[in-house]
Amino acid sequence: MYEIIEKAKQAKEMAYAPYSHFKVGACIEGDNGKLYSGCNIESVSFTPTICAERNAIGQAVMDGCKSFRKVAVACSGEGYAWPCGVCRQMLSEFGLDMMVIVVDKDGNTKSRTLRDLLPEAFTTYEEG
Ligand code: THU
Repeated sequence: MYEIIEKAKQAKEMAYAPYSHFKVGACIEGDNGKLYSGCNIESVSFTPTICAERNAIGQAVMDGCKSFRKVAVACSGEGYAWPCGVCRQMLSEFGLDMMVIVVDKDGNTKSRTLRDLLPEAFTTYEEG
């Protein structure tokens, strides 16, 4: 638990967020036990901005990992950065049973399953 949170906080420091000044770091743990990190990367034209969670998913998939146990998200602002709707949908691609842990700047945490955060998730396929 400690390592995934530390890595999410470290990833936050790598954020490229010159427009919002809101830095986010995510670290996702694969079923293979490996940890993959990502930060948010913004664009001057805004729309192409990628969130930390989806960046971390990209790192994992590039390593051949497509199922996850948990994801930790740390941010630079006050309070907690729960994954946005787009990231919830993208995470759901890889299973609804993963734990989502959010970390505030003092290191306090909250957690919910992705299933709780994305009820009645859209899919074109049966689960299982
Ligand atoms: N952001 C994330 O990285 N993850 C989320 O789940 C929500 C939002 C980023 C996108 C943007 O760079 C900044 O936070 C402010 O919205």
